[in-house]
Amino acid sequence: NDFKQWLRAMPKAELHLHIDGSLQASRLLQLAAKNGVEIPYDSVESVEQAYNFDDLQSFLDLYYLGASVLRDEEDFYYLMKDYLDKCREQNIVHAEIMVEPQTYLPYGVAVETVLAGFRKAIAAAKAQNGQSALMILSLLRHLSEEEALAMLDSVEPFRNDFVGIGLASSELGNPPEKFAQLYAKAKEQGYKLIAHAGEEGPPEYIWGALDVLQVDRVDHGVRCVEDEALVKRLIAEQVPLTVCPLSNVRLCVFNTMAEHNILEMLEQGLCVTVNSDDPTYFGGFMNENFEALADDLGMTKAQAVQLAANSFRASFLSDEDKHALI
Ligand code: HPA
Ligand code: ZN
Repeated sequence: NDFKQWLRAMPKAELHLHIDGSLQASRLLQLAAKNGVEIPYDSVESVEQAYNFDDLQSFLDLYYLGASVLRDEEDFYYLMKDYLDKCREQNIVHAEIMVEPQTYLPYGVAVETVLAGFRKAIAAAKAQNGQSALMILSLLRHLSEEEALAMLDSVEPFRNDFVGIGLASSELGNPPEKFAQLYAKAKEQGYKLIAHAGEEGPPEYIWGALDVLQVDRVDHGVRCVEDEALVKRLIAEQVPLTVCPLSNVRLCVFNTMAEHNILEMLEQGLCVTVNSDDPTYFGGFMNENFEALADDLGMTKAQAVQLAANSFRASFLSDEDKHALI
């Protein structure tokens, strides 16, 4: 219908996207065959049947298996290119993309290889289509702080590839405080700071991200509503929350989309944005997320405009670059 057409055409920025979460099932199979990686799936249907998660950890197990099929520069190039092509199709005019080089280290893939492929795809999308994309170095919180610090050191020669650092993977049991030194060091080096908090973890993890890590943005953050003082703080400081509706329903953070709190948070004055997180695993890219809010929550045009405006405001682009885009 007209509203959906209009949503698809609306210029958008995506701020919460894990590049490994955009790996298509067909490419997973193709790369597994090419690189001789054994996986327990032999068809697109069998991979997609496994997209049937009970919680964050059950998703992460499949997500890391998927990422294990990538090996050479060309593989990383095509992973990034596929996502950037989708951005063009969906009018995502700017994206801030989390990359997780720690994931590939056990397979002997060097960080140089990963970044060379990603960088080439981003440069081509800029040059050919005027697309805008920034990379965020996302560290894995199930690993140690020492390992995260070692990764931060390894990317020093590639400092200009990244606008910021983030923190992803298993949230419960891995609170923000575990990474206090990492964030202090990254802040000194001029990185913008984000972290997943309050997806499965309690409101205390959001306080920790704000006060100990000193983040500029919170990924997810939907459990903030359990703590009134926290909501007040997030509103007063207009801390952006990168919310991922389809992800939250697929990982059972909410039982149904009709129960999602994103529009209530928006109406309370929180700076919430819409994002896809891991679009191929969660059944939709940005437009499908916006369409779900229209279908199941009765999102209005004014709310959609506000959500999109928030995403540009919360981005790490300079004011000059923002104005060039919108
Ligand atoms: N949460 C934590 N880690 C992740 C996610 C997520 O939603 N997606 C990919 N890694
Ligand atoms: Zn995420």
